[in-house]
Amino acid sequence: MSNICVIGTGYVGLVTGACLAELGNQVICLDIDKARITNLRSNIMPIYETGLKQLVEHNTQAARLSFTTDYKEALAEAEFVFISVGTPPNPNGETDLRFFRAAAESIADEINHPVIIVNKSTVPVGTGDLLTDIIHKKHSAKPLKFSVVSNPEFLREGSAINDCMHPDRVVLGSTNRAAAQRVAELYKNLNCPIMITDLYTAEMIKYASNAFLATRISFINEISNICETLGADVTQVAHGMGLDKRIGTSYLSAGLGWGGSCLPKDVTSLMHMASINGNNPLLLQTVMDINRNQKCRAVSRLREALDSLDKKVIAVLGLSFKPNTDDVRDAPALEIIHMLQQEGALIQAYDPQGMDAASTVLKNVKLCQSTYEAASNADALILVTEWNEFKQIDFKLLRQKMRGNIIFDGRNLWDPDDVQKAGFVYFGVGRGS
Ligand code: NAD
Ligand code: UGA
Repeated sequence: MSNICVIGTGYVGLVTGACLAELGNQVICLDIDKARITNLRSNIMPIYETGLKQLVEHNTQAARLSFTTDYKEALAEAEFVFISVGTPPNPNGETDLRFFRAAAESIADEINHPVIIVNKSTVPVGTGDLLTDIIHKKHSAKPLKFSVVSNPEFLREGSAINDCMHPDRVVLGSTNRAAAQRVAELYKNLNCPIMITDLYTAEMIKYASNAFLATRISFINEISNICETLGADVTQVAHGMGLDKRIGTSYLSAGLGWGGSCLPKDVTSLMHMASINGNNPLLLQTVMDINRNQKCRAVSRLREALDSLDKKVIAVLGLSFKPNTDDVRDAPALEIIHMLQQEGALIQAYDPQGMDAASTVLKNVKLCQSTYEAASNADALILVTEWNEFKQIDFKLLRQKMRGNIIFDGRNLWDPDDVQKAGFVYFGVGRGS
């Protein structure tokens, strides 16, 4: 059992804290957001993540997990301090380290005993050194014994707890191997490969991994566009490719592009890091361009199907950037809605969990309580996020509700025959012309 403090209670921090408590550690989670901590103390979750509420409740009741806004209290007993604050993008693509620096300063102000600082936030290569400098500077009069370990996080939203408890690998990077080994001890019961590297390499593994996932998706999206013009079916092409063990099936679902709080900002940040250091990241630029084009292409196809988008009512199913999360950060749906609105379309949207978050960023959109309400009198319907509940749609009922007969299945969720049988014109992604 170790004493652990986790800074930041978002998708990564809260899940990490709850999982480390579940593994038997004494965990205190800190956030500067007072309302979030007050709610967490009453077992009200700030995010939608399957199984999280139960895990937090279980560990809070077992007195292994607690919450605070007070750095002094959070750090008092800590042997390990995990940083998991947000690292959003600046307009020029570089990473905004404001929250990270503030967390580092607060740790430096309040820590007075030997500690291992473990960074889980995704930060540009070299940021581990920045963290070390911040702590050193504040303790220059009386040096403090501490180590910095980079421990990039690879969990996905929607399956965060499972990913955290059953990771494919744990990566630990440090200039102090003994410190990295002590962090490795925390993960030893997870039965996964634990890789210890230098600090910069660990930080880079995170960016390279996300960039590779984005590349795979952009690759299959490009193939899907070629399939459309040549009359092939990308879903079967991807399946056929994936049966080759060297290729594998994951991240080959063609759709309306990748989004979310991380892939977009991390690819952009990697490109920025590359550029300012004299590299020319040609592939990454193309991966980004294909991703943007995928959304423009969807809007063009709807425009062609309806002659014009002006004053047309479009039902949008799915607002979160992927199923099983309420996160709408950089969600493809938001960009598509924006483009449709710019051409005069009227939007009626529905999402099973993302409505609250979407309502804070969407303007002039009718937010509906169900698929069928969103479809009422719509000229066309576009599925952007493939939530399970959309699999069960009653297409006959949908046809009765809608004014028009255009269905754009942006995630290839439905069987085209089922949709067509109900009287719709079906468009998929890369499923023939
Ligand atoms: P988030 O925005 O959901 O949560 C961040 C939390 O940090 C917020 O609750 C915020 O109030 C808190 N915070 C900000 N400044 C603070 C400070 N100075 N002290 C204490 N708390 C502070 O962020 P997230 O999605 O959990 O991402 C966190 C980091 O993990 C990012 O670097 C992200 O790139 C990385 N990451 C995210 C995911 C994911 O699926 N979301 C997966 C892997 C890695
Ligand atoms: C991604 C990575 O998968 C995680 O390993 C990483 O930890 C995380 O980013 C992060 O750094 O935050 P996440 O953002 O939760 O996880 O989402 P993914 O499941 O990877 O999906 C990202 C986007 O790609 C979604 O918009 C999804 O719809 C899209 N996608 C995914 C496709 O279009 N096709 C696919 O085959 C897979």
